Amino acid sequence: MRTQVGIIGAGPAGLLLSRLLQLQGIDTVVLENRSRGYVEARIRAGILEQHTVDTLRAAGVGARLDREGMQHGGIHLQYPGTRHTFDFPELCGRTVWIYGQSEVVKDLIAAQLEDGPPLLFEVSDVRPVDVDTDHPRIHFTDAEGNAQVLECDAVAGTDGFHGVSRPLVTAGTGGRVWERTYPYAWLGILADVAPSTDELIYAWHPDGFAMHSMRSPSVSRLYLQVRPDEEIEDWPDDRIWEALATRMALPGWTLETGPVTEKSVLPMRSFVSTPMRYGRLFLAGDAAHIVPPTGAKGLNLAVADVTLLATALVRLLAEQRTDLVDSYSDRALARVWRCTHFSWWMTSMLHRSGDDFDAQLQLSQLRRVCSSEAAARELAENYTGLPLE
Ligand code: FAD
Ligand code: PHB
Repeated sequence: MRTQVGIIGAGPAGLLLSRLLQLQGIDTVVLENRSRGYVEARIRAGILEQHTVDTLRAAGVGARLDREGMQHGGIHLQYPGTRHTFDFPELCGRTVWIYGQSEVVKDLIAAQLEDGPPLLFEVSDVRPVDVDTDHPRIHFTDAEGNAQVLECDAVAGTDGFHGVSRPLVTAGTGGRVWERTYPYAWLGILADVAPSTDELIYAWHPDGFAMHSMRSPSVSRLYLQVRPDEEIEDWPDDRIWEALATRMALPGWTLETGPVTEKSVLPMRSFVSTPMRYGRLFLAGDAAHIVPPTGAKGLNLAVADVTLLATALVRLLAEQRTDLVDSYSDRALARVWRCTHFSWWMTSMLHRSGDDFDAQLQLSQLRRVCSSEAAARELAENYTGLPLE
């Protein structure tokens, strides 16, 4: 098999890269080790920044997002006694959208299977080789068990945090990993109940962080700060609803409850791997970096990476010019570090560490962002997404 760009991983990064390249006349093949059903059912991100929505629309996959996505003009930030609303259009002229990552992935897969390049599910033993030459190849076993070789001009490692691409880049470049783990995790639930709030609520509480998000007018998504080693069995639904109601309590406001349809504990970490390129192997999305979800940045960063990468690969393959691929890693990492800082800052401000001195600093910071327009604007600009370069 031969293609111009071999793409490993059919998450949002790989699928969108394939789509953007197809629109510029560049051939791709996408290799995914899971099944279509598994990839489409993974419940993850919910907030899309302005540039992400613009990019999806321009890529021709924005129709259902425009119909079913919910445009949001702000968030509520809460600490005991106070629920402050940030008005994003007023602070920075931008908004965000609520549209589940699983829906973005479904739209991209449907478009690719309808008129796009090959997308192979359930492949195994994926192994990129010769990535430090102009003729990299990807060895893999297809769903029928046949050994295959995909010859390419470039390889995109969009295979997420546990993929095979990043170790090759680190080994080949002598690269470096930057990491922070946090002493807490999120317990997330999906529930069949109308959201009890107009905007997302991010709540600081002495018991720990709580958050109210949503997926549709009839489905709520909620999170609680828990210990990283927390057993999900110790959290029956009643205990979860009680903790959520306590941590988000506000006089005159009630948290509506409903049947819980999904429940999981998610670890929190910041992770950046540099550089994002080795020869003709380019990393994008979670393959290169992870942020804690408090800033709602992971999916949006993946989209920002592949937007840069698509332009750079078109320049390389259609014009034989290497300037944009040569600068790709540095340009992508500038945004990665900004989002890494914002996500760390939101996380550090909102989660209880157990230290009472830290708690006083957090409350001081929360009062500051809720009372100073300059501080609020800084939050709003980062949350809604800084414009792409
Ligand atoms: P992935 O989605 O991980 O996709 C990688 C793909 O590669 C997968 O399909 C995987 O099966 C495949 N793969 C892996 N290894 C191989 C291999 N060897 N061969 C072939 N295929 C392989 N981000 C936000 O922006 N906003 C949010 O509100 C937000 N909330 C989140 C909430 C939760 C609970 C979680 C867990 C994450 C959240 N994120 C959020 C982060 C976001 O989900 C990720 O950043 C995003 O999925 C990254 O996309 P990706 O395509 O880079 O990686
Ligand atoms: C979500 O809806 O899953 C979500 C929203 C905002 C976040 C994190 C997760 O910061």
